[in-house]
Amino acid sequence: MAFISLTTTFVGATVRPRKSALCRSTKHRPAPDEIFTPSASAVPRNKNLEKLQAGYLFPEIGRRRNAYLAKNPGAKIISLGVGDTTMPIPPHICKGLADGASKLGTPDGYSGYGAEQGMGILREKISSILYKGSIAPDEVFVSDGAKCDISRLQQVFGSNVSIAVQDPSYPVYVDTAVMQGQTGLYDSAVSQFEGIAYMRCDASNGFFPDLSTVPRTDLIFFCSPNNPTGAAATREQLTQLVRFAKKNGSIIVFDAAYAPFINDPAVPTSIFEIDGAREVAIEVNSFSKYAGFTGVRLGWVVVPNELVFADGSPVRADFNRIMTTCFNGASNISQHGGLACLDEQGREEIQGLIKYYLGNAGMLRKTMTELGFDVYGGTDAPYIWVGFPGKKSWEVFNEILEKAQVVTIPGAGFGPGGEGYLRLSAFAPRASCEEACKRLRALYAGVAA
Ligand SMILES: Cc1ncc(COP(=O)(O)O)c(C=O)c1O
Repeated sequence: MAFISLTTTFVGATVRPRKSALCRSTKHRPAPDEIFTPSASAVPRNKNLEKLQAGYLFPEIGRRRNAYLAKNPGAKIISLGVGDTTMPIPPHICKGLADGASKLGTPDGYSGYGAEQGMGILREKISSILYKGSIAPDEVFVSDGAKCDISRLQQVFGSNVSIAVQDPSYPVYVDTAVMQGQTGLYDSAVSQFEGIAYMRCDASNGFFPDLSTVPRTDLIFFCSPNNPTGAAATREQLTQLVRFAKKNGSIIVFDAAYAPFINDPAVPTSIFEIDGAREVAIEVNSFSKYAGFTGVRLGWVVVPNELVFADGSPVRADFNRIMTTCFNGASNISQHGGLACLDEQGREEIQGLIKYYLGNAGMLRKTMTELGFDVYGGTDAPYIWVGFPGKKSWEVFNEILEKAQVVTIPGAGFGPGGEGYLRLSAFAPRASCEEACKRLRALYAGVAA
């Protein structure tokens, strides 16, 4: 018997071959009938993971793109899909990262495990520069990014809480709630999980939910500027949200990962600009989209001291417990990069990146508007949300991939409220964005108007 590789995948599970097999030469390629077929373990599958319908949205997009490429090997695909940054990290910030790495090679500069909550100096800088001192440094928890923080927050709250999400929304809120056991089963008739309150956000309500129709839940996940709709909630809307949470004794998990894209000075860049938010909100944030740190990995969470559970105990203490147990601190190199981001020069470089991506967003907006589509977002966010009324968004996704070789994201991937819409990401290089606009014009000229 022989083995093909270090891991063998079968019906969705990964099986590690026995040690002797690991030592075997990988030169030998087994015939199909030689492939190891293990018997099942006695371990039951996690029921909550069983509830999840498909793979996570973004890998699924990649799978479809690769399937198209396999059939059309010469295709020049442009991605306006997954919201990954493409511009290089600017020089001052990059130097911060490089200096952080170089220090590790010197006896004086070396550091091992750091504080799980992050370097004191970085927490202070986040507090003083990004929150103008309105948040104390010890309320800031530095992390390896917002996605991981959302998952750790779910651990803090456990399985006995109810949640509300904007519909459509960034899929991580729903998927981590399902994994945590906060929901019932998926109801395919309505494309929703039982037990989650889906707060419809569409053009008819200015992409802000009608809170008078939303039931009370323990947690409310809210993202502004929004992924995927590109809507940035106004001060008045966020005030309504904070009052709603206060009235219901709920906690808002506010995702501000796209805050630096806000152009309009009247639009809050943090939930903590709203009176009373310190008693009802947590904020997650990230350097990913600020500074091209999607691969570097650096984010933070603000948990105010005033935020307490029903028994009066501080949420901050429980989050600290999770962070110190399940996490070992953000990479020291990344944190040096974060410090450079917050220097004056770093902040200027960030503004340059934001301006560049918003330039792309403007171009995509203009193209789709001139083609006659209803277009939203793209002014205070790097996402453009385009209406294709009466059409299935996966069909539109396929059409654009096949006829224009442009990858987008179907709105339905963000929840049932996203059906009939498509998300375009402005995180592409300028030339790709221009070429994508050309191809979209060729595909849709005279179609929507
Ligand atoms: C709304 C939102 N929050 C969080 C994240 C993840 O951020 P990070 O890279 O810090 O994990 C994303 C990434 O696309 C996002 O769109």
